[in-house]
Amino acid sequence: MLRFCLIGTGRAGLVHATNISRRIKSAQLVALCDTDSQALARAAAHHKVDRLYHDYQEAVRDPHVEAIVVATPVSFHREIACEAAAQGKHILLEKPMALSVAECEDINEAVARAGVTLQIGFMRRFDAAFLEAKELLGSGELGRVMIIKSTGRGPGLPPPWIYDVTKSNGILAEVNSHDFDCVRWLADSDIVRVYAEAANLKCDHAREDHPDFYDNAVVTLRFSDDSLGMIDGTCPADYGYDARVEVLCEKGAIFIGSVQDRGISQVMSDGRITTRAIDSWRSLFKEAYVAELEHFIECVEQQTVPRATGLDGLKAVEAVVAANASVASGQPVVLHAIDRQNSPSTTR
Ligand SMILES: NC(=O)c1ccc[n+]([C@@H]2O[C@H](COP(=O)([O-])OP(=O)(O)OC[C@H]3O[C@@H](n4cnc5c(N)ncnc54)[C@H](O)[C@@H]3O)[C@@H](O)[C@H]2O)c1
Repeated sequence: MLRFCLIGTGRAGLVHATNISRRIKSAQLVALCDTDSQALARAAAHHKVDRLYHDYQEAVRDPHVEAIVVATPVSFHREIACEAAAQGKHILLEKPMALSVAECEDINEAVARAGVTLQIGFMRRFDAAFLEAKELLGSGELGRVMIIKSTGRGPGLPPPWIYDVTKSNGILAEVNSHDFDCVRWLADSDIVRVYAEAANLKCDHAREDHPDFYDNAVVTLRFSDDSLGMIDGTCPADYGYDARVEVLCEKGAIFIGSVQDRGISQVMSDGRITTRAIDSWRSLFKEAYVAELEHFIECVEQQTVPRATGLDGLKAVEAVVAANASVASGQPVVLHAIDRQNSPSTTR
């Protein structure tokens, strides 16, 4: 039984709380922490937890706690993760890992010093369809990857703290961190150049206070092995949650995901077909959130390296920061030199 404290009892935190307390036999939710008293009380009553904290510094010092799930807004990730590591706690840290590469480096150094396990909440890496695609690409059957397109669109308005891009890195971080991570994971190649365009097309209410806020973005990418990528992000997408990826390879293509949920379609006598769209990340990745926690616990117990490491978290943040810099400057941003020597097109 790994004893968990959840820090941040909001949207993502409650998904983890439910999974720890109801779905995973080898885990126990023993403590909760949130600066918001009402959110904390609600979560405590629902999950019958009595070790309650308003201050994460006290929560990470609780000797009864062995592991921490961090699901606060990203601007607190660095301080909470570093303090938790210093107290010897294992950490499942929600994406985006932090606000900057320097913050990610601080976390990775604190984790290495303490010798604890750190896993980033990239649940797509635990989804059955994404895993099958990764395996197929690894088999070499489809030849080299040429273009990866990843769409990440969230339903509903973002939480209020996202509007301040300096404190959240915007939609590209909040919604599209998963896309930046999974294109790099599937391409098996680092992102070396990004060019991004973004606009606020729906959130008029945010325009005055947050002129830098954007609710739609498109990004083009080049990978170190010379392959290409595209990411698009929107929040809110009124039709539902949309996470689709297309991988075009030399000898075929892989299509992951659909806008339709895994339920029924109804065909009418006049030929109309009706079906339901996926309503939320909670439903699409329901099993992946459980699998990521199970994997985390296994890594802690067996002292093995998680499938989504602090370096993976850092690489996604690096690409997001570069994409935001590209939005601001209107220019492509180079992250690393393109390694044509090792590109499959020159080594084939
Ligand atoms: N993996 C996923 O699919 C997924 C989905 C949604 C959100 N997230 C991530 O989870 C994190 C939280 O997002 P959310 O949408 O749940 O936010 P939220 O606003 O719904 O919840 C955040 C909670 O943290 C609390 N909080 C804020 N500062 C705190 C602090 N210093 N100490 C303790 N508690 C604090 C808030 O009171 C709130 O209850 C973000 O990093 C977000 O990107 C991941």
